[in-house]
Amino acid sequence: MCGIVGYIGEKDATEIILNGLKRLEYRGYDSAGLAVLQNGKIEIRRELGKLSRLAALVAAQPVAGKIGIGHTRWATHGEPSARNAHPHVGATGEVVVVHNGIVENYLELREELASEGVSFSSETDTETIVHLIERYLSTRITLEEAVRRALQNLKGAHGIVVMSSREPDKIIAARIGNAGGVVIGIGENEMYVASDVPAILEHTRRMIFLESHQMAVVTQHGLMVQTLESQPVKHQVHVVGWDPVSAEKGEYRHFMQKEIHEQVRSLTDTLAGRVDFDAGRIRLPQLNLTPELSNRITKMYITACGTASHAGMVGKIYMERIAKIPTEVNIASEFRYHEPIIDQNTVVLAISQSGETADTLAAMEKARKQGAVLWSIVNAIGSQAMRLADGYISMQTGPEIGVASTKAFTAPLVDLYMLAVLLGDQRGVLDEESRKALVADLRLIPDLVGRCLDRENDVLAVAQKLKDARNALYLGRGINMPIAYEGALKLKEISYIHAEGYPAGEMKHGPIALVDEDMPVIALAPKDPWYEKMISQIEQAKARGGSVIVVATDGDQRIPSLADHVLWVPDTPWLLSPVISVIPLQILAYHIATLRGLDVDQPRNLAKSVTVE
Ligand code: AGP
Repeated sequence: MCGIVGYIGEKDATEIILNGLKRLEYRGYDSAGLAVLQNGKIEIRRELGKLSRLAALVAAQPVAGKIGIGHTRWATHGEPSARNAHPHVGATGEVVVVHNGIVENYLELREELASEGVSFSSETDTETIVHLIERYLSTRITLEEAVRRALQNLKGAHGIVVMSSREPDKIIAARIGNAGGVVIGIGENEMYVASDVPAILEHTRRMIFLESHQMAVVTQHGLMVQTLESQPVKHQVHVVGWDPVSAEKGEYRHFMQKEIHEQVRSLTDTLAGRVDFDAGRIRLPQLNLTPELSNRITKMYITACGTASHAGMVGKIYMERIAKIPTEVNIASEFRYHEPIIDQNTVVLAISQSGETADTLAAMEKARKQGAVLWSIVNAIGSQAMRLADGYISMQTGPEIGVASTKAFTAPLVDLYMLAVLLGDQRGVLDEESRKALVADLRLIPDLVGRCLDRENDVLAVAQKLKDARNALYLGRGINMPIAYEGALKLKEISYIHAEGYPAGEMKHGPIALVDEDMPVIALAPKDPWYEKMISQIEQAKARGGSVIVVATDGDQRIPSLADHVLWVPDTPWLLSPVISVIPLQILAYHIATLRGLDVDQPRNLAKSVTVE
């Protein structure tokens, strides 16, 4: 997962950058690099693999200076290599850029720049940014203005840091959306820039967190923050505690809130290194999947607990629709009591954030004994669920601390989608056009999630209305039915409000008897193939006096007249809509619980890792 460190002051930037990147090493990366301004010239060192290799390169070809930027990269566009590692430099050699995020429109930008005569030295999307900055700099405007104009061309969510030998007294940092934070550390006659607090915490506790669409011009003695539209911003200095816990919490009140907001970044990292957007293909090397194995699979069981099982329910739809594999989802604590029909052509796929959930491990053991092909999707590296499996997909979310799982829900949704595309491809059931379209849709996800997060205050307003509820009913249908389960689970576990998730079509078979003015109904009705059915469900709840809150797609004309409150989400390719429609429900649960004054990170009676059966 990408990391950024920058420094401007009187000390040696090289050493500070290497140390800062080391502090972010736990996040994972495949290459690293740094750029330092030495005697008025930008010197770049980049290396494939571990930071120790970059340090060795720097030792062999020393570079020193008082201003510099560095980066650890997880590949998204272009293979892991020194050539594709950041920083990226333009044709003049006067501007360098490091970047977290995905430039969604990079193909168009690349073509546009190529037609202007620009030649590219890497396969990355990031390189387009540096060429755009140079394009504007050539019109003799300031670096700040050139960066601003370049950023206005980018689609997607980004954390970006720029340095130039033309204006050697500054670093420019910007944040668009939530593809990684940008934090600026204030020292004595020195300033730091980073993607994450731990990278610079040994130097300063005084920090400023950029919001989305803000840009900071950082000099040795201070900084100026503006919006990307040039409006001045009065920045707030936070004093971050020394202890790793509050340092990790950064600008957020709780880990859960931080983890909800980290989803743009975690999903960018989920795609990194796995999706080849140019070829429209998926790579999941740790799964050890061969075409021979893909073709002999006759059945899949997905087994998991709690939130992870809800991800599995969406996964069933992906496996059946995209990969044409009959799939069953089993709660892990029940799986062992079933008599599943398993042979060497059956895949049992376990999903677990912790990788240590006793019920899930027991289900895996049973599958192993019966001779299944055993796979896992796991967050905790080296956990039992990872070690037990024949192959695994590691969630690229980083540690999840809040007991209520959020980023470890959306990451496996995308992992399952990618797995289905890979299986469908290898099994020959996906034609090239469909495969490329499915893969291309993935590019939209980080930004769509970011757009939901930008609406946190709208969700907070709804939370204020619901905070005293005693019950809540969540309804969904089709691909968003598991999101009703997940929304209800989030609410009950941290707010202690009784909440049920229900398939909307089942309402008439009983639960509709519960609906009255004291029963808020939260309905998922984004634009998906079940939209019309959901409309009639919402009408039925309304007719019985229920207060209805609807998750709906921007621009929907019908929902506002039916719903008491709308939680708007951006238009999303429907197969990926669960990744987006769950975000307002996570935020809703979070704010209801905090308004009730509850400990959202450690709710009563719950543990992060459930290691008892
Ligand atoms: C999620 O918010 C819960 N705390 C819980 O349901 C959790 O998802 C479940 O215990 C499974 O945990 P795992 O992913 O670590 O296996």
